[in-house]
Amino acid sequence: MTERTRVAIVGAGPAGLMLAHLLDHAGIESIVLDSRTRHEIETTVRAGILEQNTVEILRQTGASDRVDTVGSRHDGIELRFDGAGHRIDFADLVGRGVWLYPQHEVLKDLIAARLAAGQDLRFSTRADEVVDIDSDRPRVLGTGPDGEAIEIEADFVVGAEGSRSITRDAVTGAHGGFFREYPFAWFGVLCEAPPSADELIYSNSPEGFALISQRSPEVQRMYFQCDPDQDPDAYTEAQLWDMLQARVPGTTLQEGSIFQRDVLRFRSFVAHRLLRGRAAIVGDAAHTVPPTGAKGMNLAIADVVVLARALERLLLGGSAELLESFEETALARIWKAQHFSWWMTSMLHRAPDASDFDNRRQLGELRSVVESRNGRGFLAEAYTGWPLPV
Ligand code: PHB
Repeated sequence: MTERTRVAIVGAGPAGLMLAHLLDHAGIESIVLDSRTRHEIETTVRAGILEQNTVEILRQTGASDRVDTVGSRHDGIELRFDGAGHRIDFADLVGRGVWLYPQHEVLKDLIAARLAAGQDLRFSTRADEVVDIDSDRPRVLGTGPDGEAIEIEADFVVGAEGSRSITRDAVTGAHGGFFREYPFAWFGVLCEAPPSADELIYSNSPEGFALISQRSPEVQRMYFQCDPDQDPDAYTEAQLWDMLQARVPGTTLQEGSIFQRDVLRFRSFVAHRLLRGRAAIVGDAAHTVPPTGAKGMNLAIADVVVLARALERLLLGGSAELLESFEETALARIWKAQHFSWWMTSMLHRAPDASDFDNRRQLGELRSVVESRNGRGFLAEAYTGWPLPV
C-alpha cells in the first residue's frame, strides 16, 4: 500500500529531525524514517559543540530547554603550541559563544518533541531507494521493522541519512562529489574523570595533535592524532594516558577509566548537487568535514533551516523561488565550513611526511593567529558560527 505525506525524510539524525520539527512548526506534515533503533540513535556518542545559532534555533522552536540546564556555555577555547597556551576569547572577540551539549542529547530532545507532538517517526525502517524525483510525486521505497515492503509517496523527499546516503545516489546520479582524504585520523576516548580544564584545549605538539574536550562533569572526551589504520584495541589504558599526556604539555590530565575508544577517519566531501527535481540532500549526506572545529552537526542544522524555508514557500505558497536558490545559499556556507575545518585541521595536525620547514611554518601560522586580534577574531567568528541567512 502506498502511503502519502508532504515531505518524506530519510534519516533521524540532527538534520532529519530538525527539518521535521521546523516543518511541523510551519504546519507541514512529514514522515521520518531511520534504519536504526531509537536506542541506537540516542546512545551513539558523536559531536559535542553547538554554535550559538544552533542553540538559538533549539530554544526558539521549543525543541530543547535542556541545552541550558544539561549543556554549558563556553566563551573560548585554548590553542596550545610550542610550550604555551593561548586563549581565543569568543565573548570578547565576537560577543558570541558555543555550547557544550552532546549530539545524542540534541537527538533525545528532538525525538521526544516529535513523539510528544504525535508526529510520524519510524525506527528500524530502512529506505532502499528514492525514485521518481523528476516528477512531482517522488517516492521512497523501503523495508519496515518486520521485513515488510513500504512505499511512501510525497511532494518532496529529503535525504538526511548521513554519509552512506541512498538519496544522494538519486540526486547526484553519476556526478559524485568533491573529495579529499587526510593522512591521519583521531583516536577518541571517553573516560570517567572530572574535566582537566575549564575550556577545550586544541594542542599542536611535536607528537601530533590532541584535543581535550568534555561531555559532562563526570565524563570527558579526548582525542589524539593517529594513523587512519590504527587498531583501537592496540593500546592499554596506561599507554593511552601517556600518549594523551605527552601531547598536552603544561596540563596534568585528570585520568580515569576509559570506557569507549574509537578511530575517526578524516574526510572532506561536498556532493556535486544537493537538489534535483523534488529531492534534496542535507547534512552528512551532502557533505562531510573533518571534526576539527566542530562544524558537522552545526552545518547540518544550517542546511535544514534554509531548506525548511524553501519547502514552506513551495508547499504552502506555491512558489519554487526559494527552492531554486537553496543549493547556492547552502553551498556558500558549506564551502566556508569546509575551508574552516580544513584550515583548523592542517594548522594543528602533523602530517606524517611533514618536513622541518612545514612544522616551523605551521608554528608561524599559529602565531599569526593568536598574536593578532583580527586572526583570533577570524577563528572566533567561524567557530561560534556565521549568521544564518534571514
Ligand atoms: C567533541 O567534543 O567531540 C569535539 C569538540 C570539538 C571539536 C571536535 C569534537 O572540534
